[in-house]
Amino acid sequence: TWSPERTVEIITALADLEGPLLPILHEIQETFGCVPPAAVPIIAGALNLSRAEVHGVVSFYHDFRETPAEGRSIKLCRAEACQARGVETLVKAVDGKVAFEPVYCLGLCASGPSALIDGRPVARLTAERLIALAGA
Ligand code: FES
Repeated sequence: TWSPERTVEIITALADLEGPLLPILHEIQETFGCVPPAAVPIIAGALNLSRAEVHGVVSFYHDFRETPAEGRSIKLCRAEACQARGVETLVKAVDGKVAFEPVYCLGLCASGPSALIDGRPVARLTAERLIALAGA
């Protein structure tokens, strides 16, 4: 979740760069998954820009978004037992279609490849099933 304190830390760390706005926006987006509207006045104040200028940059670049991406949270186990059960082949098959976060062992080793999808454990995953579950 977004926090003003963390936002200020990011700004402080990057403010000395030449042309700090884009790196700051990238870092904020990377950290929070978006550049929330509440961050705009903080950035503007710190860089001596107007809110409109900062907002203009956020909306100009398609890389930046004001709300986090929709979609399910997918945590895919890439630990040893799931590797032995073919998770890497599955990763290759869904590459570019499904965004996931790697996790290391969900305790479902005997029935891998395993994942947590929106917090729900799913075992014996196949690429087709993962794509369907991800709604991709
Ligand atoms: Fe994947 Fe344990 S290694 S669930």
